[in-house]
Amino acid sequence: MKASFLSLASLVLVISSVKARTVFSAFAVNGVEEGHGVAVRVPSTNNPVKDITSNDIICNTNFIQPVSTVVASVPAGGVVAAEFHHTPAGYVGPDPSDPLDPTDKGPVLAYLAAVPDATQEDVTGLQWFKIFEEGLNPATHQWGSDLLFINGGYVNITIPSCVQAGQYLLRVESISLASATSYPGAEFYMSCAQLEVTDGGDAKPETVSFPGAYTPTSPGITANIYGATSYTCPGPAVFTC
Ligand SMILES: *[C@@H]1O[C@H](CO)[C@@H](O)[C@H](O)[C@H]1NC(C)=O
Repeated sequence: MKASFLSLASLVLVISSVKARTVFSAFAVNGVEEGHGVAVRVPSTNNPVKDITSNDIICNTNFIQPVSTVVASVPAGGVVAAEFHHTPAGYVGPDPSDPLDPTDKGPVLAYLAAVPDATQEDVTGLQWFKIFEEGLNPATHQWGSDLLFINGGYVNITIPSCVQAGQYLLRVESISLASATSYPGAEFYMSCAQLEVTDGGDAKPETVSFPGAYTPTSPGITANIYGATSYTCPGPAVFTC
């Protein structure tokens, strides 16, 4: 009996160790840490969103309560260093799967949406533009997820200098393609940060909707990462000033 319990326990370990499972739960603005869960809506589990038609694809779901009412100020042209970790708790000590399982691969992307109030609960109907993507670098064979792993879960996202001043949600997303040879299969891990952009310009970027920006047949939603030499990230082109 004991032996079969042990083998079941080790099977569970094997299964859980191949899950990417990562959460964006904190960020720094121009090198200054805001703090865990400050100005970011942190999901209370590290479960993936897999249904790209669901409203959960916007900013995730089931947030740790209370959600922060802080809106972080960032000058246009500034850098938001988004921080991912294995669980919603943030960094809690050495963990071979922190910030994600290194055997898992996929892109890291970031989008902005202007909002009347960055603390508003409703995130449906927003218009998003992409400001960052890191897919597969064919020269180094590194994915965005590899860089996230190497950099301890941090990814630097520059707020374009020409975006209009005002309140925004910043949606930062890590996608696991380990099981993405067909749809549904890709696993989407995202949170939304609450920002006030200052000193902006007058850009009018083209926008997309979530859900809607990704479809089962969009480039990058299905992929075979094993032996891949190129990859197109899902969603629109990255907006530049
Ligand atoms: C982010 O930018 C800061 C400041 O330039 C730099 O020190 C840091 O290494 C960068 N981190 C990553 C993960 O690129």
